[in-house]
Amino acid sequence: MKENFLWGTATASYQCEGGWNEGGRVPSLWDIFLHKNNLENGNVASDHYHQYKEDIRLMKEGGHNTYRFSLAWPRIIKNLQGEVNQEGINFYHNVIDECLANGIEPFITLFHWDLPQYLEEIGGWASREVVAAFEHYAAIVFKEYGDKVTYWTTFNEPRYYVFSGYKIGNYPPAIDDTQLTIQASFYMMLANAKAVKQYREMGQNGKIGIVHSYSPIFGIDDSLETKIAMRNADNYFNNWILDTAILGEIPVDMLGRLHEKYDLSFMKTDDFKTIKENTVEFVGLNYYARALIRPYSGGETILRINNSGAEGRGTSKVVVKNWFEQVWDPTSEFTEWDTEIYPQGLYEGIMMAYRKYGIPIYITENGIGMYEDITVESIRDEKRIEFLNDHIDAIQRAVEEGADVRGYYIWSTMDLYSWKNGHDKRYGLVAIDFENDCKRKPKASYYWYKQVCESNGKTIERKREYDSNFVSL
Ligand code: NOJ
Repeated sequence: MKENFLWGTATASYQCEGGWNEGGRVPSLWDIFLHKNNLENGNVASDHYHQYKEDIRLMKEGGHNTYRFSLAWPRIIKNLQGEVNQEGINFYHNVIDECLANGIEPFITLFHWDLPQYLEEIGGWASREVVAAFEHYAAIVFKEYGDKVTYWTTFNEPRYYVFSGYKIGNYPPAIDDTQLTIQASFYMMLANAKAVKQYREMGQNGKIGIVHSYSPIFGIDDSLETKIAMRNADNYFNNWILDTAILGEIPVDMLGRLHEKYDLSFMKTDDFKTIKENTVEFVGLNYYARALIRPYSGGETILRINNSGAEGRGTSKVVVKNWFEQVWDPTSEFTEWDTEIYPQGLYEGIMMAYRKYGIPIYITENGIGMYEDITVESIRDEKRIEFLNDHIDAIQRAVEEGADVRGYYIWSTMDLYSWKNGHDKRYGLVAIDFENDCKRKPKASYYWYKQVCESNGKTIERKREYDSNFVSL
């Protein structure tokens, strides 16, 4: 990789911090939703709130030169009036300072899904008032940490947050309402542009981007019907975030289709102007799998995601009525959570994004969730090592072909709370003994990654020959 390539790992505040009612933190919508429904929660998570020094020490010893994490909005802003919680501000000063003292570049996300509950109560992201609250929060943190932090991203995975919360209904606010899905999507993208504007107007010296759950689109064949379905799928999965944030343009064919059935009058002329004028300068792509698309063949919309892993392979199903269907290649390999393992999709996805947008790319998440016995003496997660090796290999190919990829973050730093999948879905390079004061124990993959970081990628085994029966965009 090029000099100064960022090698690190990633987490999110709600998923690793714990300390849910400490240090003046107010509840997020996740606390309320999980407590109310008696579901596994992140009250303690990986106890990073108390053990962050140990985690950063492990990063340093593991050869990392960066750490991607998010700030918990409910730790920083106390209420609707926008009052600041000094203890929360101090906590992140400590984390940032600890990173810097250890040669770890902080890469910060403003919003990784833990919306303060007081904002959910006024309508959450489907409400324009939350856009203003986000601007206020962004201004506070830019002012506090701006001289220490170079890399900022506004949102983590708007699509997952909005579709899961407002349409699929498996995340809070757990509803199924297309009109609100469109509103929340739009307001998040507007808030992204407003935060970018704010950042520039404050004369900050770093860089600002957005993180997207990237699903590179492939089609089952080359027919016109498939091409149209692929375009619809690309709008649905990717373009409404990437085109909007990077080009400042919401895909017009998508707006046209939505306009036929839904009320878009909440989108104002000034909003389009703000979006056009305030675009990001880099993009973070989270890559887990591609989306393989065929034409819509009838029936109602189905958005069924295998969330527990228990349902078995092939039980996810995605049909968007009149738009497209997603299918899975039966010859592929899948994780225990029904996610296709397809490193070639990362290579092709980077090339597609780079050709289309031409801005610097960071792979802000990539990793594999597994059931693991962490009580053994040494945790030999060979499957994870193979997975990571093949994905880094894919990035190296893209770089060799000219793509400007500047960093790579494994999800996740340590085992953590995986939303509705609880704590059993382990992603970490470092195991957490959730039963035993969250003791840390590095896995084999941690030692393997140390060599990758320290050799700047030279220890990666270059092996995969790519070929595909399917058509990419
Ligand atoms: C996406 C999200 O950013 C993160 O919160 C989640 O846990 C991982 N990917 C794994 O699914």
